[in-house]
Amino acid sequence: MQAQAFAKLNLTLDILGKREDGYHDLQMVMQSIALADTLTITPGEGRMDTSLSYLPSDDRNLAQLAAAAFRAATGLEVRVDITIDKRIPVCAGLAGGSSDAAAVLRALNECTNAGLTPEQLAKIGEQVGSDVPYCVMGGTALAEGRGERLTPLPPLPACHVVVCKPPFPISTPQLFARVDMKKIVRRPDTAGMIAALEAADLAGAARRMYNVFEDVLEPRRRVQIDEIKARLIDCGALGACMTGSGPTVFGLFDGEAAARLAAQRLGEQYREVFLTQTV
Ligand code: C5P
Repeated sequence: MQAQAFAKLNLTLDILGKREDGYHDLQMVMQSIALADTLTITPGEGRMDTSLSYLPSDDRNLAQLAAAAFRAATGLEVRVDITIDKRIPVCAGLAGGSSDAAAVLRALNECTNAGLTPEQLAKIGEQVGSDVPYCVMGGTALAEGRGERLTPLPPLPACHVVVCKPPFPISTPQLFARVDMKKIVRRPDTAGMIAALEAADLAGAARRMYNVFEDVLEPRRRVQIDEIKARLIDCGALGACMTGSGPTVFGLFDGEAAARLAAQRLGEQYREVFLTQTV
């Protein structure tokens, strides 16, 4: 069986507080984009292979962890070999690993005829990672709590998206560890973002994009992120923002020509630049 695993963008990311369990309460508006990994899943012994040699190719990979969580939850002894053709940059804030895990859950549900609802699959996904429940549902959604409390939202109006990953990884736990709740002064207008989505107002949504992690970055990283955002805006983006715990930055465009030019310009400096759309 082949499955597509779509990347996600954070149109907004707000951190509301630190929890007793060590996680943070978040409020995020998420959107799927067409940039995707392709998974090939076959009956097997639990082997794992990816097109990137440095990714774990054993049962530490989120895709095999998802298969194990599915077995534990359903009691079905289904073992699969998984091959992933990675296109989504890793450690990038695009939920690539979580999306692969979600694709495995959906695929196993289908091929075993287990008949689980998306909500049940999302619940299984919670144990694998905080972004997995959203990735099971996909589309446009408000994610709250650890990321598992999901409310579907009207989709971002169709647009062109330029995605640029600068050449350094950011560790999500390390960035969360830098968060000082007292120092967060700028926050996204989440209610305004939802209102813009409800009004199908692309420019209004693009204007309201903001991610509080941008203020948590090391200063030298912040400069690099701001530079990419400025270049996207100079090329005509309606708005630009970092996604997740970064470092990927994206811009939204209403016209394809401007988006293509932005991708070309950024592509002269950065290796991982993609021109894509929302799904
Ligand atoms: O759930 P996941 O394994 O993807 O989270 C990775 C790390 O990110 C956690 O160990 C935690 O440090 C941090 N995190 C958090 N609050 C969240 C989600 C993740 O502090 N809501």
